[in-house]
Amino acid sequence: MGLLQEGINEVIATTWSNAAPMGIILRDGAYRMVLFRGSHTAMNVERWGWVVANIVHDPVLFVKTAFDDLPQSAFVEEEVEGFLVHRLPEVEAWIAFDAAIEHSARESMTAILSPMKEMTLSPVIHPVNRGYNSVIEAAVHGTRYLWNRDPEIRKLIDHHRSIIRRCGGPKELEALEMLDGYLAKAGASSS
Ligand SMILES: Cc1cc2nc3c(=O)[nH]c(=O)nc-3n(C[C@H](O)[C@H](O)[C@H](O)COP(=O)(O)O)c2cc1C
Repeated sequence: MGLLQEGINEVIATTWSNAAPMGIILRDGAYRMVLFRGSHTAMNVERWGWVVANIVHDPVLFVKTAFDDLPQSAFVEEEVEGFLVHRLPEVEAWIAFDAAIEHSARESMTAILSPMKEMTLSPVIHPVNRGYNSVIEAAVHGTRYLWNRDPEIRKLIDHHRSIIRRCGGPKELEALEMLDGYLAKAGASSS
């Protein structure tokens, strides 16, 4: 096993019938997640003790799963160590982790993750694109902005919007439009 890299790996985490972007932290050989309370992912990881990291490079999917739910048909069942888990279908690779809550606080908890099974399906080469990177940044800031409406975060989203418009391709522009749609729907339009 060893698809993830030292540092924080941004993946789409699946739990049962749920998908959301999450960071998997790899430091000194140990895998962890910090889960903010209130998300379905936090609730499911605490309850069921597993999570699947889907390695995918799709800006639209990152935005969609950060702000919305996927239909039941979007999940593929896999049997891992005798129980069923859900992963996403069109991913480059996936890793199923056993997850145990290591530290629990009022707003967040930390889970320590142990890889159970790792599969590489269809790896793709991704030239670095600042527009793509900015979609990920804008989506992270967007989820935080919906929590706290901090005007400084709104400025960061605006900064990344201009990079996406300058450097992104059609997928990044579609992701930006979707992000702006979710922010507007939440009464938090920032364009
Ligand atoms: C790139 C990215 C990384 C994120 N990483 C985390 C994380 O590590 N922990 C967390 O609790 N939320 C993280 N979030 C926010 C969640 O994805 C967001 O709160 C989402 O709505 C949770 O969905 P759920 O309720 O379906 O679990 C991240 C968002 C993005 C866009």
